Amino acid sequence: MTQLSVIGTGYLGATHAVCMAELGLDVVGIDVDAAKIAKLSDGVVPFFEPGLEDMLRKTLDTGRLRFSTSYDAAAGADMHFVCVGTPQRKGEFAADLSYLESAIASLAPYLDRPCTVAGKSTVPIGTAEHVAAYVAAHAPAGAAAEVVWNPEFLREGFAIDDTLHPDRLVFGVSSQTGERALRRVFAPLIDAGVPVVVTDLATAQLVKVAANAFLATKISFINAMAEVCEATHADVKKLSEALSYDDRIGGRFLHAGLGFGGGCLPKDIRAFMARAGELGVDQALSFLTEVDAINQRRRARMVDLARECVDDAFRGRRVGVLGAAFKPNSDDIRDSPALDVATRIHRAGAVVTVYDPAALDNARRDYPDLDYATSAEDAVADADVVLHLTEWQEFRDLDPHRLAERVRQRHIVDGRNALDARRWRDAGWHYRALGRP
Ligand code: UGA
Repeated sequence: MTQLSVIGTGYLGATHAVCMAELGLDVVGIDVDAAKIAKLSDGVVPFFEPGLEDMLRKTLDTGRLRFSTSYDAAAGADMHFVCVGTPQRKGEFAADLSYLESAIASLAPYLDRPCTVAGKSTVPIGTAEHVAAYVAAHAPAGAAAEVVWNPEFLREGFAIDDTLHPDRLVFGVSSQTGERALRRVFAPLIDAGVPVVVTDLATAQLVKVAANAFLATKISFINAMAEVCEATHADVKKLSEALSYDDRIGGRFLHAGLGFGGGCLPKDIRAFMARAGELGVDQALSFLTEVDAINQRRRARMVDLARECVDDAFRGRRVGVLGAAFKPNSDDIRDSPALDVATRIHRAGAVVTVYDPAALDNARRDYPDLDYATSAEDAVADADVVLHLTEWQEFRDLDPHRLAERVRQRHIVDGRNALDARRWRDAGWHYRALGRP
């Protein structure tokens, strides 16, 4: 049976390890974080991802999946997937590659026979080539331990589906051996009709950052239109609906609101710009500076709308915040637009109480100055204004009449254009939204 190691069991690696075991492969997941490995070994997923824990338990029971803190466990595997994080460097735009470098340095001594090292992490273009040179120089098997790049496109909240039913597979290879090895591992998906794009290493690395840059641009495009709507009393939601019927444009990632956050889109466009600068093609990506700026301006606009609701002064006012995660169906608060807005308003003197269905623990840990509640009703108690900042279904389902009894003033600002404006207005609320009259 084909044996795999998955190095790094964070969001991407844990999902990948579980899904590969689900496909029938023999998998060991490796991470230097002992607490994470202990949890995974016990069948506990250390983050929020619908369906993943059930699949983890099921695959652990088959005996095909195990976890270890030791790279020894990777020895003998046919393919090693490298799934470690590449966060933004502190104070810079560029990506921090230290986890990747240390994973490769730890893995190399165990590569003592022909095998494949498949990079999945999002990296600056050129990284794969460096990794290949390092492996060729330091692995006992030398260049017979072949480095390929297989970027990952999964979205949080849809991680299993995106892994087992991806839109496409991208195989960045420098030989037919590498391509054959990837085709073997992904055979069940390829047999099910998933398209495969075979490229060189550079193109495969570029596909990933280009995809995220495009998605960020699409979101900022519609958010730029929202700014124009605000100046003209037009309705960005209707605008986006009308645009979406044009197949060339499409409606996905065209939802105007508070903009993008998370551990990927913001840092990936910045790292992409930094790398373009190093490559001497910074002009080609200068538009991404504007994409980033539009995204930041939405947060400032949200604060302004909230301020208007409290007669231009936050001091001493109570603000109820619905949402902390960077998007629904996730407990991830990295670069969360919701918590950014909540913090700005807190610093301006308001008492800000936040509720989120999944991200409260993470928010409490990283934003200890904010107040927290364990239900939407409690978060809005005596509020002068309510802000809807992450579009969980639970918030769409709220009863505006019931909530009205809890607040001091019926002001709601919908930062995600996801609530039913008429329902809220009919219940006596003063409803405002980004990009809409
Ligand atoms: C993103 C990409 O969508 C994945 O394809 C990619 O694999 C992943 O990054 C990654 O690089 O690992 P993710 O960060 O999970 O996935 O989140 P998205 O669903 O892309 O949402 C990103 C942000 O954009 C969220 O804050 C969301 O609220 C916002 N968004 C999304 C909008 O503001 N409007 C939209 O129309 C869509």
